[in-house]
Amino acid sequence: MKLIEPKTDKDFERYYDLRWRILRAPWNQPKGSEKDDLENKSIHLMAIDNNEIWGVGRLHFNSSEEAQIRYMAVEENQQGKGIGSSILLKLEERAKEKGAKYTVLNSRDSAVKFYEKYGYRVIGEAPTLFGVIKHFKMRKEF
Ligand SMILES: CC(C)(COP(=O)(O)OP(=O)(O)OC[C@H]1O[C@@H](n2cnc3c(N)ncnc32)[C@H](O)[C@@H]1OP(=O)(O)O)[C@@H](O)C(=O)NCCC(=O)NCCS
Repeated sequence: MKLIEPKTDKDFERYYDLRWRILRAPWNQPKGSEKDDLENKSIHLMAIDNNEIWGVGRLHFNSSEEAQIRYMAVEENQQGKGIGSSILLKLEERAKEKGAKYTVLNSRDSAVKFYEKYGYRVIGEAPTLFGVIKHFKMRKEF
């Protein structure tokens, strides 16, 4: 398994498709709802093995010190094998290289323990997604 940045249109198509299938489709959200207006200013990573994309994640900056991780998603039958951890750690590495002092993210309730394993702590509540997915704001200092 290696971590690469999507480059071609085809890469991005598959990258967004995984994001959509894991984070949006189960809640009947349309294609397109998996993107926001910061895509062009973000660092995108995907975990790829044998030309299959197993996981994705994104990093952007809210200020020179604050980096934010969003859209972490691992293919359902590949979860629990360390792919999400690899993506998270690599995104943090990139954030540090670019001068971030800390990272923030909004975690769904079900993923809080995953992020806690890597030193994130809950600092408050974040907006509930689609009226049902409770989120918490988390932060990790470097
Ligand atoms: C959350 C997610 C990105 C984690 O990626 P992953 O590849 O499954 O996680 P890893 O295999 O790297 O897990 C690392 C550790 O965290 C634990 N872990 C992973 N997901 C967890 C979860 N949801 N709750 C509790 N622990 C979790 C693993 O058991 C593992 O523990 P170990 O090191 O003691 O064995 C992935 O499961 C996923 O895409 N989930 C669905 C979408 C989602 O919730 N995305 C996050 C939105 S905020």
